[in-house]
Amino acid sequence: MCGIIGYCGPGNTVDILVEALKRMEYRGYDSAGIAVGDYTGTLTVVKRKGKIADLQKVIPSTLNGSYGIGHTRWATHGEVNDINAHPHLNCAGDIAIAHNGIIENYAALKGKLISEGHVFRSETDSEVIAHLVSTFYEGDLELAVKKTIKLLKGTYGIVCIHAKEPNKIVGARNGSPLILGIGNKEMFLASDVTAMIAYTKQVIYLEDGNVVTITPDGYKLTDGTDKILDRKIDYISWELQEIEKDGYTHFMEKEIFEQPESIKRAMQGRIDKEYMTAKFGGLNMTNRELLAVERIKIIAAGTSYHAGLVASYLLESVARIPASAELASELRYRNPIVERNTLYFAVSQSGETADTLYAMRELKRKGARVLGICNVVGSTIPRESDGGIYIHSGPEIAVASTKAFTSQLAVFYLFTLLIARMRDMSYEMGKAFIQHLEELPQLIAKTLQTNSHVKNLAKKYSIYPNFLFLGRGLNYPVALEGALKLKEISYIHAEGYSAAEIKHGPIALINENTPSVFLVPDDMLREKVISNMKEVKARKGKVIALAVEGDEEVARIADDCIFIPSTHELLYPFLMVVPLQLFAYHCALELGHNVDQPRNLAKSVTVE
Ligand code: M6R
Repeated sequence: MCGIIGYCGPGNTVDILVEALKRMEYRGYDSAGIAVGDYTGTLTVVKRKGKIADLQKVIPSTLNGSYGIGHTRWATHGEVNDINAHPHLNCAGDIAIAHNGIIENYAALKGKLISEGHVFRSETDSEVIAHLVSTFYEGDLELAVKKTIKLLKGTYGIVCIHAKEPNKIVGARNGSPLILGIGNKEMFLASDVTAMIAYTKQVIYLEDGNVVTITPDGYKLTDGTDKILDRKIDYISWELQEIEKDGYTHFMEKEIFEQPESIKRAMQGRIDKEYMTAKFGGLNMTNRELLAVERIKIIAAGTSYHAGLVASYLLESVARIPASAELASELRYRNPIVERNTLYFAVSQSGETADTLYAMRELKRKGARVLGICNVVGSTIPRESDGGIYIHSGPEIAVASTKAFTSQLAVFYLFTLLIARMRDMSYEMGKAFIQHLEELPQLIAKTLQTNSHVKNLAKKYSIYPNFLFLGRGLNYPVALEGALKLKEISYIHAEGYSAAEIKHGPIALINENTPSVFLVPDDMLREKVISNMKEVKARKGKVIALAVEGDEEVARIADDCIFIPSTHELLYPFLMVVPLQLFAYHCALELGHNVDQPRNLAKSVTVE
């Protein structure tokens, strides 16, 4: 949610800032801006409502400099317009800041600053930072920033420059990510590694309270006081080509089609064929500790929550351990009871989702053991958790999460195998479970062949304003996920329900203008779902069914059918979700929407 960048070095500052903003555009895309400085003590700010491409159009071709900062915005305080876009300046226009986060006490700070004669230009909370830095500035930008952050309540990743201190950028972090990139005679500060991956792979993940000062020659990292920190340098394993479209039209399309590979990566090195179980390097738990676990609780948001719901069903039915999933945002404020021997999972693709992070902190404060299941290495949730599992999907750039979902599932299926094999799953059953899991990449590849059929269905059905997505058992959360995908990128209203639940209310919505998408795997609930389909048909509702190849009975009832390959009944969530992702993608395209950057959304939701 908002991306910030700072660069100092010999490269073309404007180009580097703009390219970094483009790479981080998925974090927020309602407005953007840059502030560039040079040796003469000039600071030039260019900012615009709209996409980075709109900003590029108004950057003078002559603009250059040796250091600068940039910002891509997801508005929190103040409407989306040129003035509220970052960077923000102090009254004299010699200090510029870009901020990601929310300053909760900005109103009080602003009131005081105004009474002291400061003139504000924007409606943002962030502008107070620039004015505060100027009040503390006595020739030392780092010190002024340190004094400023002591007054701030809320969350921030900040980059700040002063015209009188060319080639220097001061960054500070509390609650919003900030990463230091160490290049060859050039330094970066960014919300996200994707901003700097083209130039350096050596990074330091700042922690809350850290303040860093960068110049082309080096950096000084402190804990916010005078104490200098000597922090380990991490290496980014992502390749540049992974954050590019690589021949695909959209990131979402690329990420959907990457799933046979991403799921392989999620499972790689984690299958133990000697004991027919799973192994994980980072759980930080012994088998004895795992055996003592009596209950598993999963917290997450959005798509990650849906993966957690599938996992809770699976853990309970296969590993025979009580399990549940809950929205992190709800858990945090209901004073949850943390029971002994309960293991928590915080699931998050980005590892930065505020709702999940704060709920995790609350659980840890109460003494819970929380493991993370995340994609972005070095992000806050994995760093603050007691251990965990990376899903290794590779960068997920499209706002709509796709490959992360199937990789989260893959990791949870392996974790279930591990727990089940410690309890009552036999060696032979473990072997069969593994065999089925290993077939998944190929089955997903086969399911992706439904693409052109799904595209035709999107042409036919994207005219409808409302949809129901209906499934049962393990596929009920997949129905929720299908509805979420459709609404977030095509803006078509969609609700996910248990197919059994429609008779308790939603069936009132059924008519010829409200199609239902039924998930009908070949499992023990198939007959019941077929009855629900018939109930919808009897009320003139249109039905699109996802059924297993050869299921002619379902095909006869449905208006349209998408066939997926046959697999073990536990594995259908992996295959059912793929046509739903494609359906949402093609509906959004049919309706002319920006699939990768849907309106009002951002990839990484770092505000509550
Ligand atoms: O990064 P996270 O997995 O924590 O993100 C959680 C949700 O914000 C995310 O899944 C969101 O719902 C997606 N846009 C869904 O496609």
